Amino acid sequence: MESKRVCIIGAGVSGLSACKQALDRGFNPVVFESGSDIGGVWSRTFDCTKLQSPSIIYRFSDFPWPKHVTDPYPDHSQVMEYLWSYARHFGVSKCIKFEHRVVGMEYVGATEEQMAAWESWAGNGEAFGNYGGEWHVAVEHGGSVETYQMDFVILCIGRFSGVPNIPTFPEEKGTDVFEGKVIHAVDYSNMGTTKAAELIKDKLVTVIGSGKSAVDIVNECSNVNGSKFPCTMVIRTKRWIIPDYYAWFGFPVVFFYLNRFSELLVHKPGEGCMLWFLATILSPLRWLFTKFCESYYKSVVPMKKHGMVPDHSFFQAMTTSLIAILPVKFYNKVEEGSIVLKKKKLLVSVRMVSLFKGRTHLQRVMW
Ligand SMILES: Cc1cc2nc3c(=O)[nH]c(=O)nc-3n(C[C@H](O)[C@H](O)[C@H](O)COP(=O)(O)OP(=O)(O)OC[C@H]3O[C@@H](n4cnc5c(N)ncnc54)[C@H](O)[C@@H]3O)c2cc1C
Ligand SMILES: NC(=O)c1ccc[n+]([C@@H]2O[C@H](COP(=O)([O-])OP(=O)(O)OC[C@H]3O[C@@H](n4cnc5c(N)ncnc54)[C@H](OP(=O)(O)O)[C@@H]3O)[C@@H](O)[C@H]2O)c1
Repeated sequence: MESKRVCIIGAGVSGLSACKQALDRGFNPVVFESGSDIGGVWSRTFDCTKLQSPSIIYRFSDFPWPKHVTDPYPDHSQVMEYLWSYARHFGVSKCIKFEHRVVGMEYVGATEEQMAAWESWAGNGEAFGNYGGEWHVAVEHGGSVETYQMDFVILCIGRFSGVPNIPTFPEEKGTDVFEGKVIHAVDYSNMGTTKAAELIKDKLVTVIGSGKSAVDIVNECSNVNGSKFPCTMVIRTKRWIIPDYYAWFGFPVVFFYLNRFSELLVHKPGEGCMLWFLATILSPLRWLFTKFCESYYKSVVPMKKHGMVPDHSFFQAMTTSLIAILPVKFYNKVEEGSIVLKKKKLLVSVRMVSLFKGRTHLQRVMW
């Protein structure tokens, strides 16, 4: 077993823990990381980025946060420090090859037809299969590409790093005709605080989206420009954007949703009749949890006043991880006019964005 060659792609949170698990099992894994640091999304992010999940639940189960980190929502530099100590402590850092981008991979040893007929992983459900095949992993480094032979590949490439998701527009209705500059949140966060502030200074900026990146960028723009150059946020889906996860009398909302019992409140695909029955008889409890949280957040965030109450329930938001933490004094900035909230169901054209405020054009748009 020890001689098996294990390759992990990506040195974010997932890649680091995959590597630690592989080392624990006696393998000699290699981690290919296209960037020059560990941490994935945490290594390239906005200045104001903090954990949104409380640190008691966002941690490796076998490695506690250091004692000096007392904030329940550590900032990105503390997250990076924590990840580096994990990587060093378990010897993971020695396995990482930085600036090695995987550009292709191919399984050699079984034909396409054989693979198509497999019902389970590797034909028999075992990690290393029984075909005697191997992965050929093409890795680009310093301008040349080398192929590595591996028995097993673990993909830990994340969902939010590196590849901007920019919608396509009909011809002459998109970024090609927009006279200002259009950038994606990924590029904005890669830019660093000083350059980002220079980019937005004294510009009319419109941010498309209402996820956490959007909320944070809007907040940063309003800090830089105030009400003289208000920042517009175009919202397609209203989200539950909340101050933190503590409700009345400091009650931790996560205990309603993020434990083994709350798993039973949702009937999930593939679960049997018993679990369906349980989820059904527990539905009043689900309703109660939701109403408790919704009424609390509606009472502390002026979302009703600004037409920002989401159409979906708080329960749905929690179970799909579509919650964002509200930057401090966000709605104060809405009231003083530094932030303008625009609800728009369908965004078909960038030019349309420019019409929102009746100005000839906006100078920056960010996704
Ligand atoms: C700004 C931000 C804040 C977040 N905050 C929270 C939070 O508070 N709570 C929470 O639960 N989740 C949060 N998330 C979600 C976050 O994505 C996960 O918590 C977690 O960090 C993801 O880790 P990952 O290793 O799966 O992916 P990533 O962090 O995306 O890491 C993937 C790594 O793979 C590398 N890679 C990709 N392709 C290749 C390739 N071809 N070759 C080599 N290397 C490659 C990338 O360079 C990157 O280092 C946040 C996400 C973002 C963007
Ligand atoms: N901890 C932190 O401080 C922090 C900071 C940033 C990000 N994050 C995390 O990173 C992950 C990604 O967050 P994200 O905010 O970057 O992305 P996201 O959650 O996927 O949000 C994307 C936003 O863009 C909107 N959008 C996409 N295409 C659109 C279109 N064609 N027209 C109009 N609107 C469009 C989406 O609207 P719809 O909702 O209608 O699709 C959504 O509001 C999340 O897990 C988030 O929690 C955390």
